[in-house]
Amino acid sequence: MAHTDVLDLPLVLLSNRGPVSFDRDATGRTVNRGAGGLVSALAGLAEHLDDAVWVCGAATAEDAAVAEEAAGQALLVQTHPMPHLVDPRFGDAVVDGPSIKVRVVVTDPVAYADFYSVWSNPILWFVQHGLYGRSMAPSFTRAEREAFENGYAAVNRAYADAVADEVRGRGGKALVLLQDYHFYLVAEHVRRQCPDVVLSHFVHIPWPGPDEWRVLPADIRERLLTGLLGSDVVGFHTRRYARNFVLCASELLGLPIDLDALTITVGDRTVRARYYPISVDPAALDATLASEQVTAHVSMLRYIFGLDDDRQLMLRVDRTDPSKNVVRGFQAFGVLLEQHPELVGKVSFLALLQPSRTDVPEYADYIALIGAVVADLNAKYTKDGRQPIDLRMVEDFPLAVAAFSICDVLVVNAIADGMNLVAKEVAVVNRRGGVLALSETAGAHEELGEFAVTLHPFDIQQMADAFYAALTMPLEERHRRLAAAAQQVRANDVARWLADQLADLRRVAGF
Ligand code: G6P
Repeated sequence: MAHTDVLDLPLVLLSNRGPVSFDRDATGRTVNRGAGGLVSALAGLAEHLDDAVWVCGAATAEDAAVAEEAAGQALLVQTHPMPHLVDPRFGDAVVDGPSIKVRVVVTDPVAYADFYSVWSNPILWFVQHGLYGRSMAPSFTRAEREAFENGYAAVNRAYADAVADEVRGRGGKALVLLQDYHFYLVAEHVRRQCPDVVLSHFVHIPWPGPDEWRVLPADIRERLLTGLLGSDVVGFHTRRYARNFVLCASELLGLPIDLDALTITVGDRTVRARYYPISVDPAALDATLASEQVTAHVSMLRYIFGLDDDRQLMLRVDRTDPSKNVVRGFQAFGVLLEQHPELVGKVSFLALLQPSRTDVPEYADYIALIGAVVADLNAKYTKDGRQPIDLRMVEDFPLAVAAFSICDVLVVNAIADGMNLVAKEVAVVNRRGGVLALSETAGAHEELGEFAVTLHPFDIQQMADAFYAALTMPLEERHRRLAAAAQQVRANDVARWLADQLADLRRVAGF
């Protein structure tokens, strides 16, 4: 990768989900590569550097077992072609492909539950996606405060200690890239322990304005902001989020800011807010699309949904997260069928939904709501044995890519979404003139809105009208818009997301 030559410092990465995860089957321990744009982009960087380590949490019981055996040491994991641990302690020391050093941190399970299932999801996730509003805001009692101290803050300290340990092991000088809302307190701790680091924190979800943050107790929101301001650069997907962050520093902490330059003065340091829209790896997507597995799925889907006749396919692919607004999306589809009965039996809606964070009550309840609205619409609009909605609770990337390539309309009607990579994936692999129907509040709308039909996430009638406009758009117009969207995504791919950040960091820190 060309961008690695800008990196003369060792690299320490931190994210909750790591680049690999371990499991166990009848053959013994297995190693799986992590999915998603963030992991593949950063893994690509880490694999190409001489000295990089990735600190992450344990996602499975086997991850925790590996971490315990490693006793606080980083492990070398080969990522391609066959992922496996490269470590004499585990019986295999041959490296014949790219590899990454991984340090898995395990914390007390009760503390982790307070960190993950009380504070990260739902509280921070809900505040940042505007899911509470005022009247639905949580109450903060001693229990929530204790969950913050003993959970979020304690777990952040444990990860910060692991990061600082890795930095010290590299002579105290390293580039530290922290990821997302799980770790807002880490930068400050790391800086205190290792004053010579260059620290960047990328926030992958929306950053709302100061008023939304006022839902949180004053002392807690101040600690979160102060923690993040331990960074040199705080990165976001859009200018709007970066601006909101700078406004928060001014209004909630009283710090001097420059709103045009997007800078905040913290003592004798300048913290920069920056925006870099994350993207996809088009070459990897092209290769997946060409694979036998995807080709087989494409034939099957074309047949099931009658796409070689004059039928059409609407699609959504999401985690079952209340921010994705799945229920209102289906309600709008119901209004479409009610107001355009000629579409009943002609348009199907395939929803590939991945059950997510089911230990959080708000998420578990949401799955039940989705099931109810789908059952209701399928009972009402099934025609000639053809159900209008095909709901599949699966996480199956090849199936998703197959569906991306042949859908007529992609629905992204999120209440808020940091970016939404599904929209970019569809732009790259769709071969049917698929129309992007994008929420005006998804980060992807800033780049792709001009080629899409815009959805207002709360306006059911507007969404139904937009679906109708997409389904009836002349084919030539559909292909023109899709080609323009694909060009935009291919020119601003994930390598560029990373290269721009590293170039800025080099300017800031002079390494
Ligand atoms: C979002 C966050 C990521 C997170 C992912 C899955 O995309 O921005 O940081 O890894 O959701 O989260 P989960 O904890 O449900 O696996």
